[in-house]
Amino acid sequence: MPTVFITGASRGIGLEFAKHYAGQGWQVIAAVRAPDTATALSSLSAGGNVSIERLDVTDDAAVDAVAAKLKGHAIELLINNAGIYGDRDAALSIGNFDTYRRVLATNIAAPMKVALSLLPNLKLADGAKILTISSRMGSIGLSGGGSYVYRSSKAGVNAAMHALALDLKPQGITAIVAHPGWVRTDMGGSGADISVQESVAGLTSVIARATLADSGKFFNYDGAELAW
Ligand SMILES: NC(=O)c1ccc[n+]([C@@H]2O[C@H](COP(=O)([O-])OP(=O)(O)OC[C@H]3O[C@@H](n4cnc5c(N)ncnc54)[C@H](OP(=O)(O)O)[C@@H]3O)[C@@H](O)[C@H]2O)c1
Repeated sequence: MPTVFITGASRGIGLEFAKHYAGQGWQVIAAVRAPDTATALSSLSAGGNVSIERLDVTDDAAVDAVAAKLKGHAIELLINNAGIYGDRDAALSIGNFDTYRRVLATNIAAPMKVALSLLPNLKLADGAKILTISSRMGSIGLSGGGSYVYRSSKAGVNAAMHALALDLKPQGITAIVAHPGWVRTDMGGSGADISVQESVAGLTSVIARATLADSGKFFNYDGAELAW
């Protein structure tokens, strides 16, 4: 039974990933900041193949502790899903630079830290994959103005994951980034285009189809390739 490690699995897209892979019989390691309040995930874990790890992805020591706990356990798929938007800043302003730094730590540094810390586990699997949930708002080619904080955080993680993909390719590990669509979650809001089910159905088929030849690419949830 393959193993998937999912960050930010308490709600939204991350929770739907956990439901999907649990339903497919995968061993799901669902990493969440606050297991006590992750009630939807707790009921899922009653099924047996879902284990919950307490993990704030910005806490380096906590990431190291989870990696140490999982030593020797192969991970076929890492999904870097946890992310934050920060303030909804107006054009030509950034309200709070402390928030800006927190968004960069969560959306860029944390997925890199998690990926590098779990690398020994990914190497144990045959043909492991890393999916990092980015956003088309991080695409410079597709970018509009405003939303500097979120856009730059997702552009940054795109660059970091692209470089990581090049370095991991010789080791047989596929790393891709993907835009999940504009999704009805706490972040996306109730007026967004698609449900978490539609988003995750698309993303999981992108993951399933991805080969080493796709490593370092940026995909939309429907499988189309996106401009950096
Ligand atoms: N929804 C959209 O339209 C959309 C569009 C493009 C990209 N995305 C991206 O998709 C991903 C998931 O977003 P979503 O829409 O599902 O958002 P969401 O409903 O706001 O959920 C965000 C998830 O990330 C977790 N998280 C945030 N900071 C964390 C931290 N420091 N450590 C661990 N977990 C943390 C949250 O945990 P808590 O419950 O503990 O807060 C929650 O599980 C994000 O990377 C987001 O940027 C979303």
